[in-house]
Amino acid sequence: MRAHRLGHNETPAKCETPRQRAPVKSARTNEKQNLPREMSGLADVIRAEIEAGGPISFARFMDLALYHPEFGYYQRRSPVGRQGDYYTSVSAGGLFGELLAFAFAQWGAGLDEGPLQIVESGAHDGRLARDIVEWFSRRQDGSGQIEYWILEPSSARRAWQKETLGQCAAYVRWARDWDDLPACGVEGVIFANELLDAMPARRWAWDAAAMNWREWGVGRAGEGFVWVPLDRPGATGQETGATELPGLKEFFPLDASLLAVLPDGFVVETCPAALTWWRNAAARLRRGWLLTFDYGLTFEELLSPSRSQGTLRAYHRHQVSNAVLHRPGEQDLTAHVNFSALRAAGQAAGLKTEHFESQGDFLIRVVGEIERQPGRFGAWTPGRRRQLKTLVHPEHLGRAFRVLAQSRQARISGVM
Ligand SMILES: C[S@@+](CC[C@H](N)C(=O)[O-])C[C@H]1O[C@@H](n2cnc3c(N)ncnc32)[C@H](O)[C@@H]1O
Repeated sequence: MRAHRLGHNETPAKCETPRQRAPVKSARTNEKQNLPREMSGLADVIRAEIEAGGPISFARFMDLALYHPEFGYYQRRSPVGRQGDYYTSVSAGGLFGELLAFAFAQWGAGLDEGPLQIVESGAHDGRLARDIVEWFSRRQDGSGQIEYWILEPSSARRAWQKETLGQCAAYVRWARDWDDLPACGVEGVIFANELLDAMPARRWAWDAAAMNWREWGVGRAGEGFVWVPLDRPGATGQETGATELPGLKEFFPLDASLLAVLPDGFVVETCPAALTWWRNAAARLRRGWLLTFDYGLTFEELLSPSRSQGTLRAYHRHQVSNAVLHRPGEQDLTAHVNFSALRAAGQAAGLKTEHFESQGDFLIRVVGEIERQPGRFGAWTPGRRRQLKTLVHPEHLGRAFRVLAQSRQARISGVM
């Protein structure tokens, strides 16, 4: 989920190299459909896959729409921010990263000697990494006190991140996958901002007559795409590792009495990739903190009558819509994170839940700690105050985003 209502400036930071503007879209069109050429390219890929193997799961559609190596939405650098389709806390300016850096430094003080390891995933163009590394580099003891890792499978994104980081790149290491991280595990912080809600989700609707969930996938209708029920839930053929994916019960552990009153057609999503990410992170965390900032809900909130059509959304030029099957590759797609499922997965892996709250409440506590330690954060300039309002105000990003923070053997320093 994305924020599309902000009043802020995008503050340039010290290490920044000039930012690229959003690529100018090709004016050439596919005459038959009157669609931009690149959009037609991805639609052709999806149509061909459906032609060959039948309807695909929505997770597969979303994976292609966002991450197809040639045409995927996230193959472009500029979807985040004023010139893109949505804002995140990072595009509000450098303060979000600075507040996180302060919090991480507090938590690090409770760990053993040695550099504080920080692992970020979903770093996109590296802005948040730059803001955090810069904050540490401004401190007297320098950036040597941290070991900053970006977990990044995409070589294109690694290149963007290096460019954004500029001279800060010297303090950052890259891991292609979890196995590239230190074999003895991470002692510090593993975190992501708006990563898990961008992972491919499956869509299910309750069939009250059959007393069963039915998976809805994507089929063809002429040149476009339509929702179709899948014959065998989860058996899409095209989905790698489909049989290993966690089942629906891990996301919605509903008992018979609840199912008996669930309205016909009630829609939920599951995101096995998000759960796998959380489990992988928990397994790698030897000591310290695991946290995510995302748009998301608890299991009970996801079952509220107001959510009966699920939470899948599309973002295009700062407009939100339910038209998630339209213009694949040209718009962002998201599904709310199921925080109950993540929390349970972390706890099953031995983590303790420290915080589950709104981003606003979390950041206000960080600010409270900053005020108890004058001189450790830097001055509250008018620009920083403006950004803080954007990040914590309930009408802006403060309530919409939530943070889930879990820990393993971490002594909490101060109130955080
Ligand atoms: C919504 S954007 C958020 C970007 C950034 N964290 C921010 O807050 O501005 C999600 C990013 O996660 C990336 N992403 C998706 N799956 C990923 C994965 N498995 N590992 C690393 N990045 C991933 C996407 O390509 C995209 O850049």
